[in-house]
Amino acid sequence: MPLTISVIVGSIRPGRQGIGAAKHIEAALLAQGINVHLIDPLELNIPLFGQRFDYIPEAERSPELKLVHEKFTESDGFVIVTPEYNHAYSPVISSLLNYFYHSEFYYKVAGIASYSMGPFGGVRAAIQLRAYLGELGLVSIPKILPYPIIQTLLNADGTVQDGAAGAGQLADTSAKFVSELLWYTKNLKAARAAGTP
Ligand SMILES: Cc1cc2nc3c(=O)[nH]c(=O)nc-3n(C[C@H](O)[C@H](O)[C@H](O)COP(=O)(O)O)c2cc1C
Repeated sequence: MPLTISVIVGSIRPGRQGIGAAKHIEAALLAQGINVHLIDPLELNIPLFGQRFDYIPEAERSPELKLVHEKFTESDGFVIVTPEYNHAYSPVISSLLNYFYHSEFYYKVAGIASYSMGPFGGVRAAIQLRAYLGELGLVSIPKILPYPIIQTLLNADGTVQDGAAGAGQLADTSAKFVSELLWYTKNLKAARAAGTP
């Protein structure tokens, strides 16, 4: 059984850079034989959070939310791809993830990828995001995957731009991030199968 990982896009902004980062991670995971769900709140037209999925009467659950619930439930791990907005993570992420909780997230793994148009790659947002993910029951891995100056680093299809200054560094950080993510994902999957508290 291959591992399944959901990659979550954290921006719905017109002209968003985040789709490139999400696709870059998707490609890196696919290259490792991982089953990937790319979860794009824009494409799925997910409304602003109003009520937990479990509390919404069955007949009122939209097909898109049901689909996200299914994909999250079958996921062994998650990569949350956040822009930095005012030194914080994107509200698109908490709006989507707040719908779900125990059955979708508990005892599973999360990797945090962050990006910005500046040189720090959104790491201030990433650090805040880790505390939030912990409350959802997700175990976040130590490594963070930052994409600094993303507008000159990635194309919208996730490929690295020709001659991008940060290309070598990104190849190194993304390989180490994926390696660590898969280690935690594989081992926590086995641990969940053996029983949870
Ligand atoms: C509301 C807003 C706040 C931002 N705040 C920051 C910030 O605090 N630090 C930073 O480095 N970049 C900041 N930026 C720049 C974003 O990181 C950059 O625009 C990035 O492309 C946003 O991701 P997106 O294009 O996928 O929406 C901000 C952008 C917006 C729209």
